[in-house]
Amino acid sequence: MSHGYAIEVEHLEKRFGHFTAVDKISFNVPSGSIFGLLGANGAGKSTTIRMLCGLLPPSGGSARVAGVEVNTNPEGVKRSIGYMSQEFSLYNDLTVDENIRFFGGVYGLSNGTLRERREWILSMSGLGERHNSLTSELSGGMKQRLALGCAVIHSPQLVFLDEPTGGVDPVSRREFWRLINQFAAEGTTVLVTTHYLDEAEYCNSIVFMHAGEIVASGSPAYIKKEYRKGEFSEVICDRPLEAVALLKQDSQVVDVSLFGTRVHLHGNVSADLIRAKLERAGIRVDSVQAIQPGLEDVFIGLIEQTRESRPGGGALQGAQSE
Ligand SMILES: Nc1ncnc2c1ncn2[C@@H]1O[C@H](COP(=O)(O)OP(=O)(O)O)[C@@H](O)[C@H]1O
Ligand SMILES: [Mg+2]
Repeated sequence: MSHGYAIEVEHLEKRFGHFTAVDKISFNVPSGSIFGLLGANGAGKSTTIRMLCGLLPPSGGSARVAGVEVNTNPEGVKRSIGYMSQEFSLYNDLTVDENIRFFGGVYGLSNGTLRERREWILSMSGLGERHNSLTSELSGGMKQRLALGCAVIHSPQLVFLDEPTGGVDPVSRREFWRLINQFAAEGTTVLVTTHYLDEAEYCNSIVFMHAGEIVASGSPAYIKKEYRKGEFSEVICDRPLEAVALLKQDSQVVDVSLFGTRVHLHGNVSADLIRAKLERAGIRVDSVQAIQPGLEDVFIGLIEQTRESRPGGGALQGAQSE
């Protein structure tokens, strides 16, 4: 691996017919780090990850994964990595044990190693007592941890996780991130995609994709500092949806978005003015205060900017909108 990078991506591109799903993206992933690929549905995350795993040939550009060229040696890449697909790729009609044995077979583990890894997977996933259960009977969080175990059964130095936390409850999500941290602490490089913007904070560095392009990259702290411009206020009131619509009309407002039931306003508008405007419309205002924008504020702003020049993009999931 050159320069301490586990993954090096240069002008990587994927076209489907006339449609460009991934548009000449470049980034490097330091060895042993947690690297997040963020973006709304349709941003190009899965297409990128599938190219990096040697599963989908790029239309242009290049990538080295664990020192192996994906263009010329996709099979070599597949052997050096673990990959958990968005669909979890478990066999629902097999038991937990049967799934573990199946994946052990795929990677050609010896019986001794398989026994060891089975113990590790069952304890890591908390499925010890469920080892005879049908996979279809497990909860979303359990399936997700089993899928992770099966994806890394061969102890790869590099794992790709495509939306591993999609559709699971918040507690399981947090628990899952604890596992990801554990991998990184043991020296494994983790590339993970998510459309939950709040999960960016768990990553050492991230790229934020929109419509096939990278619109922001760096550490969470860097992105907040670099891409944040202007002032942000948080409004708590009794009719947040109406408040958003009303505040959007103000010419000083850059954008207004809903974070759960809280309204975030980006723009140079005083607290008194916001309060007066809402109260005039009969909305009860509990509080208006200046806030430091989080990554979600930054990303939503970046998307609004690109939307002005170009339509497109899917739904983004904020921290509160489970
Ligand atoms: N095999 C394919 N053929 C045509 N279009 C595709 C194919 N795979 C993905 N796309 C399109 O590429 C875009 C990016 O998809 P994807 O990489 O799955 O996004 P994400 O994982 O960020 O949700 C989407 O508009 C999707 O419809
Ligand atoms: Mg995807």
